[in-house]
Amino acid sequence: MNRLGVVGCGLMGSGIAEVGAKAGCDVLVVDTNDEILGMAQKRMQASLAKQEEKGKLKEPADIIFGRITFTTDLKAMGDREIVIEAIRESINDKAALLTKLDDIVSDGCIVASNTSSIPIATIAAASKRPDRIVGAHFFNPVPVMPLVEVISALQTNPAIADATHEFCANVLGKKVIRATDQAGFVVNALLVPYLLDSIRMLQNGIASKEDIDEGMVGGCSMPIGPIALCDLIGLDTLLLVAESLYAEHLDPGCAAPALLRRHVEAGMLGRKSGKGFYTY
Ligand code: CAA
Ligand code: NAD
Repeated sequence: MNRLGVVGCGLMGSGIAEVGAKAGCDVLVVDTNDEILGMAQKRMQASLAKQEEKGKLKEPADIIFGRITFTTDLKAMGDREIVIEAIRESINDKAALLTKLDDIVSDGCIVASNTSSIPIATIAAASKRPDRIVGAHFFNPVPVMPLVEVISALQTNPAIADATHEFCANVLGKKVIRATDQAGFVVNALLVPYLLDSIRMLQNGIASKEDIDEGMVGGCSMPIGPIALCDLIGLDTLLLVAESLYAEHLDPGCAAPALLRRHVEAGMLGRKSGKGFYTY
């Protein structure tokens, strides 16, 4: 597989497109408007330039960037061999997208979802071809984090899951683990309750955000603390992930703390909006 499509070019879609282009794929990126596509282009160019400066690229950055085409026309996905969706973490948005893709992509095309938490079976149910829907969950920042979780839904053709596994491992060079189709899969089922607990700790005045973060960096060798990690993920995304984990597991540890909700309502979404728990 060489012709990769990416739908949604925010934090994750930009990273997936960049990794695909570095791996030599012909990458087509779709988002809703030119302004967002322009921001995504800048983000990828800056990321590639930084890696080029450090001598980490096998090819010039402009050759890699030249493999990526940007468009607002979803119909352009018609010639893709694998399409990875990385749009907002909303079942309604993802279902509407899959319904549109049904009439666009070719019979042999794999459609993968980068959802953080929504069961793949729920997403696949929106498609006329649920057998070709699979989970391919990348981690943020995609160019840095080695892991992809591949998730088979009850409806997924096992050959599609195997081909997705092979694409992520052998073409994109990622480390792949297979996960059962439950909300949060493996990593977020463990990580997100920890992040939500760190916000509850801040909300309850047990420690400052700096001390919570310093505690987990200095005490447990985490690369960054949990409050800073919430800002990196995006607080809007984290809230949607918490809601879908809670809906599935009914675990109070997965319930979104009020302080998280207030930040999202205030438009303080983390690094991507310049302000979250910290200011950037
Ligand atoms: N593109 C390419 N390379 C990048 C990059 C990017 N966007 N961002 C950072 N890097 C590289 C840097 O160039 C640097 O490389 P060298 O070590 O070779 O110099 C390296 O990564 C470290 O970066 P920095 O020195 O700039 O900054 P840092 O040491 O603070 O690391 C970080 C930044 C990699 C993000 C680090 O803080 C980290 O690992 N944080 C934890 C990330 C994490 O837990 N991600 C999972 C989030 S949860 C998720 O993704 C699932 C979900 O569904 C929500
Ligand atoms: P984001 O808000 O940064 O980007 C989402 C992008 O999708 C936006 O650019 C938006 O314009 C675009 N979009 C929305 N609807 C669209 C549509 N119908 N067609 C085309 N584009 C559309 O979000 P993100 O952080 O990149 O998250 C995207 C997905 O990846 C979510 O499912 C999220 O849960 C998952 N994810 C996020 C992280 C993370 O750390 N942020 C990690 C792993 C997985």
